[in-house]
Order: sequence, then C-alpha cells, then structure tokens
Amino acid sequence: MKEERQGTEEKETNYDGIKPGQSLKRAISFEGDEVGRGKEITYCEMQREVRRLQSALHRLGVKKGTVVSIYLPMVTELIVAMLACVQLGAVHSVIFSGFSARALAERLRESGSEFLITQNVSQRGGKEKRLIETVISALGAGTFVKKVLLVNSEKKIRNGTFSRTATIFFCQDFGYDKADEIKNVAVDPEDPLFILFTSGSTGKPKGVVHRRKGYMEHVEESYRQIFGILEGDVHFCTADIGWITGHSYGVYGPLSNGVTTILYQGTPTYPDPGRLWRIIDEHNVTSFYTSPTALRTLMKADSTYVEKASLESLRVLGTVGEALDPVTWRWFFEKIGHGRCPIKNTWWQTETGGALMCPDPASAMKKPGCVGKPLFGVEPVLMGASGPIKKPGEKGELCLKNSWIGRCIGIWNDPDYFNKAYFAQYEGLFTTGDMAMRDEDGDYWILGRTDDVLNVSGHRLDSAEMEKAVLLHPNVAEACVVGFPHDVKGQGIFVFAVPKNAEAEGQKEQIQEIKNQMRKEIGAIATPDGVLLVDDLPKTRSGKIVRRFLRKITNGDDLEQEDTTMLLNEEVLKPITEQMKRWFALTACGA
Ligand code: WTA
Repeated sequence: MKEERQGTEEKETNYDGIKPGQSLKRAISFEGDEVGRGKEITYCEMQREVRRLQSALHRLGVKKGTVVSIYLPMVTELIVAMLACVQLGAVHSVIFSGFSARALAERLRESGSEFLITQNVSQRGGKEKRLIETVISALGAGTFVKKVLLVNSEKKIRNGTFSRTATIFFCQDFGYDKADEIKNVAVDPEDPLFILFTSGSTGKPKGVVHRRKGYMEHVEESYRQIFGILEGDVHFCTADIGWITGHSYGVYGPLSNGVTTILYQGTPTYPDPGRLWRIIDEHNVTSFYTSPTALRTLMKADSTYVEKASLESLRVLGTVGEALDPVTWRWFFEKIGHGRCPIKNTWWQTETGGALMCPDPASAMKKPGCVGKPLFGVEPVLMGASGPIKKPGEKGELCLKNSWIGRCIGIWNDPDYFNKAYFAQYEGLFTTGDMAMRDEDGDYWILGRTDDVLNVSGHRLDSAEMEKAVLLHPNVAEACVVGFPHDVKGQGIFVFAVPKNAEAEGQKEQIQEIKNQMRKEIGAIATPDGVLLVDDLPKTRSGKIVRRFLRKITNGDDLEQEDTTMLLNEEVLKPITEQMKRWFALTACGA
C-alpha cells in the first residue's frame, strides 16, 4: 500500500510561514475511502497548493473579509481551501458534507456567502454521493451564491447548466505562475477567521464566529497541552472537518504545531471494523482523538480486529463531544492503549474554540469518564439554585467566569443573540448549557445538557429544527422531538407526531415517510431511532408543548413524582406512556 502513495521528493524551499525543517515533513497523510488510495503531502507541497487556490480565489474576487463557503468531504482540498481563505484574510464557512440541500441552503443564506467551493462526487463507506446535485438543489432554494469553484472534479458540467444564479468555475482552469503570487494580506488579530454553524434550540443554525489570533493561539497551545509534541508525531483525529473538532484538532492544532495529521475520508467500519486500527499501525500514529460513539461501534465488532493490530506507536488517546461511559473508557484504555496511554477526555464546545477541560496525567490513567481540570485561564463556576456551588459532589450548571483566549466573537449577523443566549442568565458568566459536578480532587464530570439540544453521536442537533422538518409531512399536525439514551450513539432521536387525520391508512408507511423526511431536510445524522404517532401532546394552558415530560417518558422515568397540574391535558400522558412501553418491548425483541 505504501508504494502506491504519491510522495514527492522536494527540495527545501524557503516559503514564508514554514518553520525551519518543516517543508520536507509530511503535513497531511490522506487515507482514501478505498484501501490503498492514499497520498502524502509535505508542508512544502501544501504551501504550493494553498498558493494556487489562493490565487484562483483572488482572481474570482475573494478579498479580505469575504465569506467563502466550503462544502467538501474529507479530502486534502478541504484543508487547502481553508488555508487559502486564511491567507487572503477571507472568512471560511465549512458546511458538513453530510448535510442535505435544505440544511446547506439555510447555512449558505445565513452567512450571506457569494462563493462556494465544492466537488462533484464524494465517497464514503464504499458509497458515492453526487454532492453536486445537492448543491444544485440548494442553490435552487435561494441563496446569494454567485460563484461556485469546483475542485477535484472532472469537467462534466458545462458553465451555465448549473444554476440560473451562479457561475461555475473549475480549479484546474486557473493555472499558476509566479506572477500570480499574492502577498499575504494584512489582518487584524480580532478579524474573523471562520464561521461554523452549530445547533442551538431555536430552530435556526447559529453561525459561531471565531477570531484569527485568539482561536489560533488557543488551539495551538491546547494541542500541546493535551497531546504533547515530539519529533515525528502523527496525529489522527477521526472527526469530520465539518464540525469544530475537525477544525481545531484535525487541522489547525496539529498543523500549527508542525505535526503530521491523518485525513481519513471513510467511516470506521469500511471495509471492516479493523480499518482505524490498521491506519494507526500503517502510519505509526502517536495520538488518536475520537468520539465515544465511534469507540462503542468498534467495541461491538469482532475482537480479532483489534487483536490483530499492534497499536504500539500510540502514546496518547483522546475523546470529545459526548459523555465517555466507564465501560467504553476501560475498553479504550486496555484494548487500544494497552494500559499505557492516558485518555484525555476533553470537554469543550464550538463556541469555546478549543478544549477547556482535560484530565491531568494521573486522572487520565485512572478515572473513567471525568473531563479533568480547566486548562490555562479557564475559570469554571457551577451555578446552583442559590448561587455558586463550592462543595464537591453537588451538581450545577456549568458556567465560565471571565474569558479565555479562544472564545468566539459572537454569532454571525446576530450580535444581540450572543449576549442574550450566553450571558443573560447569570451576570458576568458565560452559560455553557451543560450540567456538571466537581469531585474531591477538583476533577469535573459532565452530566448532560440543560436545554433542548440533542447530542447524537457527538453531533449537536436542535430539537426545534428537527420538529420543523417533521411538520413538513402532509399528515403531521404537531410534533415534538426529544433525545433518549442510546447504547451506541449516546443519545437517540425520538419523534412524537400528531397526525392531522388519525384515521388515515398506513401508519407504518407514515412513520417511514417521517424518517425519510428528516433525512431529506437535515441529513442522515438526523434519522430518528423511533417515531410514535400519538393522539395529542402534553401542553401548557398557553398551548406550548412540554418537551420535558416526553423526554421523561422516552427515558423510561416515572412521572408519578412530577407535578403535571400545569398541563392543559394531563390525561394524554398515560396513553403516551403505554404506547412508549409497547415500542420499547417491540424494539427489544428486534421488531
Ligand atoms: C458535549 C464539540 C461530555 C457538551 C467539541 C457540549 C461533552 C457539547 C464532552 C458541545 C465531553 C463535549 N463529555 N459531553 N468530553 N465534550 N460535550 O459544540 O454537551 O459540537 O456542550 O463541540 O458537546 O458540542 P459541540
């Protein structure tokens, strides 16, 4: 496999921005979806690719401050496109390539972006997806995009056949010569570096904006604190770059430290569940950063896949994005780390830019699931009903005092929302939306969200946004979406829908249609694990659906202790609970 890689012998060149000795070093080791389809890119080659794309973007009219949307799968051109934007002082907005046309269109509209970088086809898990078709229908849904630059794509689409409003350009048409060289643009440290959309609970994606200097310094320094750096380090972050983990610890963290980053296009289980372990061995990976969901999926697979791997090169393991349960922690520690690698279960958010909490060396070897202590300059405060909690062991709402270097500047196009959503609840404190507890040793434990944000396979999803998708079904009158415990994904998605016509034939078909509807409107990540058609939903006297009770029902909690008198229709809880029990019984026996 190694022989098939296209490594290039490169003479050391004094490109600016490259640290001494780095230009011959591998920046990206790309591992394609299909086994054997890989390539190595040195820092020097990466610099050249960035200059080339920077030049193309410049000729298309991208300037300092221009928002450039990027809708690409996990290919080297994605990293190159991000860095080209950085060099031009432009603001990149990477949109997860698993999002549907509607979700893509909404994010394009929200950012006001006139430029989009994409490619024809993406491949993942042995399946091809015509990304371009999603792009065409997104642009048809009304966006401000005027120019689309296709990278990595054959010229099968003719200019003009693409969309009535946007013009298409092919990257290969922009040759590059020295004369095109663009001087790097002068930028202010406080200028925006990128926008990344994440979910709140308002039904609308939030464009979190990070600034150039603070973000970069935070990820560079925190990368060193979490993973350490030694000569020859190879870092493997399995998160898609469409999410913040991929931005911070797949791209900027390792590259700003001159480390080689592995860019893997495929899924953990393709062609079999031994793929990640083989990548670790083939590339001598030293730090491996992943999600508990990926680990739980691989833990269920035949153990010989892990046993066949050496995993000797590993020095540090890490997880992020969702709670790391003790069973998964132990398996990761023993089977992957062979009892010698610390597990850095980091806690942070899209808004925080980089990690804010991480276990110290001792806790990382022996405390399954804790997220450890605050990193530099981070001051957590746990808020209880009567103010800050001082005593160990008590639960509170996790807030942050003062600021920290990588904090986002705000929400794109909505400065008021930032203050209202994050600072209004407790004076002078940033509210994270997570519940937490501090133990006797000063280590923190994350206990789940306080709001209606779901965390499915470590991906944040907005219940209101999903409800909007369900309501698009012609026979749905009302909908409510809640999270419930799922043994692989951490949280599963459960939909309660009230049909307009309860007598309508084909309940099974309707349930399937609702599932398809959510995939179509948001993407495969929003496929519900369960749907119940119910007669009514619990509502307050003012007609607001009370998600809390439905969450309790899907969690199998007892409602006896709850005060349900504020409901207009208390009587609906009993039949829904009965239906839910039947659903659990049916799914338990695999129906
Ligand atoms: C959750 C991902 C438990 C948390 C970097 C947070 C975690 C949300 C952990 C942010 C962890 C993140 N243990 N829960 N180690 N890390 N979370 O913005 O609820 O996609 O608020 O950023 O994920 O998700 P986001």
